[in-house]
Amino acid sequence: MSQSPSLLPMAYILATILFILALGGLSNQETARRGNWYGIIGMAIAFLATVLWEVRANTLELGAALVLGGAIGLVAARRVQMTQMPELVAILHSLVGLAAVAVGYANFLGHGGDYAGAMKTIHDVETYVGVLIGAVTLSGSVVAFGKLSGRIGGTPLMLPARHWLNLALLLGAIGFGVAFVEQSAAGGGMQPLLIMPVIALLFGVHMVMAIGGADMPVVVSMLNSYSGWAASAIGFMLGNDLLIVTGALVGSSGAILSYIMCRAMNRKFLAVIAGGFGTASGSSAAGGEAQGEVVPIDAEDTAALLDSAKEVMIIPGYGMAVAQAQHVVQEITRKLRDKGVNVRFGIHPVAGRMPGHMNVLLAEAKVPYDIVFEMEEINDDFPDVDVSVVIGANDIVNPSALEEPDSPIAGMPVLECWRSKTTIVLKRSMATGYAGVQNPLFFKDNTRMLFGDAKDTLDAVLKAL
Ligand code: TAP
Repeated sequence: MSQSPSLLPMAYILATILFILALGGLSNQETARRGNWYGIIGMAIAFLATVLWEVRANTLELGAALVLGGAIGLVAARRVQMTQMPELVAILHSLVGLAAVAVGYANFLGHGGDYAGAMKTIHDVETYVGVLIGAVTLSGSVVAFGKLSGRIGGTPLMLPARHWLNLALLLGAIGFGVAFVEQSAAGGGMQPLLIMPVIALLFGVHMVMAIGGADMPVVVSMLNSYSGWAASAIGFMLGNDLLIVTGALVGSSGAILSYIMCRAMNRKFLAVIAGGFGTASGSSAAGGEAQGEVVPIDAEDTAALLDSAKEVMIIPGYGMAVAQAQHVVQEITRKLRDKGVNVRFGIHPVAGRMPGHMNVLLAEAKVPYDIVFEMEEINDDFPDVDVSVVIGANDIVNPSALEEPDSPIAGMPVLECWRSKTTIVLKRSMATGYAGVQNPLFFKDNTRMLFGDAKDTLDAVLKAL
């Protein structure tokens, strides 16, 4: 491969600018598509520049790895369902963590002796921190994958002295870090570098296991942030500026997202990380016990109610993603708007299973952006709404979050649809949502339940309209 020292930094600066533009674009639905393209072009430039001008040896191995990795990525991306996207993201984060650990060891074994004095100490700290963050990200993401895919239950693991355990693991990691730097200066250091990942892996597992179902959104965004810092650490180890900057962009945007998620759920970040927050298991509202009579409704009556309404609020949730009902929702919306009904969408920040899940589905179905509102923009409007239609949502419309202090989701702001004149809830059964909490909304006098797969029932509603 030809070597071009002047083109490489230029390509990297261009890629960095494109990544920043991508983040800017992704912050708004209307510019998200453009933002995505900036990201794709930036990544293509970064990738090509690195392969052409940065890699100086092992090109055969690199080529083989690219073909293999690319093929696996292609198959995974084509196969994965929209509802499996959060777990795919979680498992991909774990790979970033694994890469940081592997690069850390390779770097230590291959280049440990290249430095001396202060530079060696700095390099050793980079290596140690990189392996540490990488190992936490790796195990935490694997457990998050298990929880998001339902392979591991949502109930938090509450070990008796869990905060002390976390503190002990943290102190252990710091202690071995000091030992590593000292021993490495004397030509050793492998032993602490082998013990620390065990501690870090345990910490990652324990941290995510201790987090209750409803707090998972914070964990997903937090691991997203960790994966960025892990990539940044790899950049430091390899002396690759682009990786440092890109990792920092992912790390800081993930941290901001975690903050937004915490605010949306009325949680304190540290309390979520410490685990078990707001998960009074066995509390009155937990479990799926019925709390009264439910009143079913059929598709024809639903259509009649919608037809005679002036103000309709649609609240989509995870079930809309499962049923893939977004296109029929869009058709119903169009039909109602043609008849002069004011249809709006209310989006809860943690609806579905990943940040922006509902916005992606609605954008895919070409629902106009200007009728899609954030929870805080429309939560006060419900008394003026004639019909609220809850499509496969549960936790995000659960009044017990506001009314029952010992509920596992207590304190989480929710869409207060029960304040509208009538609420129609579309779901298949009386099963609970992600947090495993029964929902008093279903038993309210002004609630009607339209049972069945959301796609089937909405198809019938559209026909009746
Ligand atoms: P959930 O509370 O999980 O409720 C979804 C409801 O959809 C279920 O009660 C289910 O009831 C129904 N459903 C499933 N498939 C359906 C289908 N084919 N047709 C009709 N209904 C169907 O979802 P939500 O209200 O969107 O709340 C999100 C929850 O996930 C929160 O607890 C949140 O903390 C958590 N979470 C969010 C994220 C992010 S980042 N958004 C990440 C991880 C976890 P039936 O089984 O009776 O149909």
